[in-house]
Order: sequence, then structure tokens, then C-alpha cells
Amino acid sequence: MILSIESSCDDSAIAITEIKTKKLLFHKKISQELEHSVYGGVVPELAARLHAEALPKILAECEPYFKDLKAVAVTSTPGLAVTLVEGVTMAKAIAISLDIPLIGVNHLIGHIYSLFIQKESQFPLTVLLVSGGHTQVMEVKSLHEIQTVAKSMDDSFGESFDKVAKMIGLGYPGGPLIEKLAKDGDRLKHNFTVPLHQSPLIAFSYSGLKNAVRLAIQKADGDTSTYKDIAASFEHIATKHLTMKLKKYFKTNPPKTFAIVGGASANLYLRSQIKELLKPHNADLLLSDLKYCSDNAAMIGRVAIDMYENKMFTSPHELSSAPRSSL
Ligand code: KG4
Ligand code: ZN
Repeated sequence: MILSIESSCDDSAIAITEIKTKKLLFHKKISQELEHSVYGGVVPELAARLHAEALPKILAECEPYFKDLKAVAVTSTPGLAVTLVEGVTMAKAIAISLDIPLIGVNHLIGHIYSLFIQKESQFPLTVLLVSGGHTQVMEVKSLHEIQTVAKSMDDSFGESFDKVAKMIGLGYPGGPLIEKLAKDGDRLKHNFTVPLHQSPLIAFSYSGLKNAVRLAIQKADGDTSTYKDIAASFEHIATKHLTMKLKKYFKTNPPKTFAIVGGASANLYLRSQIKELLKPHNADLLLSDLKYCSDNAAMIGRVAIDMYENKMFTSPHELSSAPRSSL
């Protein structure tokens, strides 16, 4: 079995996964959404302190599995520097005390493997990753061959939902709150400009849309009855930006199997629009279970199985937690 730890942002999670069967035997996540909600975003030092409380609590529940552990895995990059180090330090201590190999997992590859929890992996894939930290398209040939072909030049898709929710005063995380508010709104009420619609670049940008939404909120002058239309129009244009750029990319790189991963891949409007986009290509769409879209340790454990089988280990004095890394 492999014990895996995730602490790259505001979720403390630990999983136990059986190597041979890929079965998830244990998974527990303690989220900090409530604690960060009053600030409208994640406060790194607060997050680190909460990880230091939550991770040992979850680890205590894993004790019955200790004797069967063959390796310990941990998200080592990318993420918040002060929170990554909480998981990495714990993983090193476990590796040293149980004398088992240590596996440092890239969080973005973790999101890709959220598609394969309790399943065989399936490649090649074209993947759209939409999370709080990233918006990128990747061509994934295998665990070792991942090429990023488009990414955001500023804010990420999920982050723009968080910021709009903060402007409206909804709390954090903004994604699910905006999605809920948008349900009864008119998507066509506000004609926000689609970012980079005239640019030939296959890239993403959300800062301009965020500012256009800010102006619409200011114009509403506290009339909260208009917020549902603003939320719906924002969600519509934020999604249209993704589908327009993907459509352009597909002209030269038609997808065979496409996947959406990351916290924001739980968004049902986004899922429906991508489904429509894939129809003319007859491409399959892979999605993670809703409970594994956002950060979790089960996806880290699933990558770790493939890394274990490829003997991709790091010694405890070499593994560092790097806040930034590219794929
Ligand atoms: O993958 P994740 O849990 O953390 C990162 O790796 O960043 O993604 C969290 C992000 C947050 O920005 C959150 O607002 C967004 O995913 N999110 C959503 C939805 N659910 C979560 N965005 C849009 N619609 C949703 N339903
Ligand atoms: Zn994530």
C-alpha cells in the first residue's frame, strides 16, 4: 500500500491506496473553506497552521495500515510554499521512520490522475486543467510525456470565479457559489467581451473579464437582485473563452479523447459546453468523479502507484517543496 499526502493549498488530505489493485482503501480530507471564507481567499499562514493541526489527526487514523506500507507519496510542487512544506515534512518523517521509499508528486499530474482513481490509466489524452491555480491545455502521452500547449497569461479560470464571488460578497470558494447564483440568471443580460477573441494566440486571460464584471457590479449600485444575471453572464463568457480557444486549437489538433480536470471541472455549465464542442470530433470525454475534482490525496496516491512501479523515488534529503513548477 501507499500512503499519500496532499497539502498544496487549503485541503489537508491523506489516502491509502493498494498498489496491485489500485483500490482506494482510505481517504480523508479536512477542508479549510470556512476559515478562509471571511477573507475571500486563502491566507497562506493560516492555511499552514491548519494543516499542522489536521494532518496529524488524519494520520493517526491510518496507523492500522502502517505495517503494510511500501512507500509514502506527497505533493511536492506546485502550490503555496508554506503549506506544501507541511505535507512534505510529514512524508519525510514517515519515510525515514518506516524505512520506505519517498515519492514526490506533481500536483498537476495528480489532477490528471484523478480520472483514474480505482481504474487503469488511459493515454493519449488532451486535457483541460481548470483549477484555482491553473488554466492550461496539455497533450498527455504518458506519465513521462506531458506537453503544455496553452495556458493562462494572468488569472486562472477558478480564480476568476473566486474573485467575482468576493466582489459580490458571496464568500470562498467562489466557483460553486457563482455556479449556484448563476442558475436562475440570464446568461445574455450582460454582453461582456470574450477575452482575446480577436487574438490568434491560443492562450487564456481572465483579468480583463474580471474588471468588466467589477464595473457591472459597481453599476448595480448595491441592487443585489441583479447579481444573478451578472453571475450567469460572467460564467457564460468565462466558459465561452475556453471553448473558443479550444475550437481554434482543435482545427490543427483534433482530439480523440479529451478530459477536463481540476476543481473547476465540477462546473456543470462548463461540462455541457465542452460536450457540445466535442460532438463534431466524435471525441470521448473523460471526467473525474465530482468528489475528486477538487484537491484530494486519492489522486496523489494514484499517480504514486505508477511512479512506484517505475521506481521514481526521491531521498528525504533531496525532496524539496517548490511553490512553482511547469509541465
Ligand atoms: O483544484 P482545486 O481544488 O485547487 C487548485 O489546485 O487550485 O481548484 C479550486 C478552484 C477554486 O478556484 C474554486 O472556486 C474552483 O476550483 N471551483 C469551481 C467550481 N468548483 C470549484 N469553479 C467553477 N465552478 C465550480 N463549480
Ligand atoms: Zn489542485
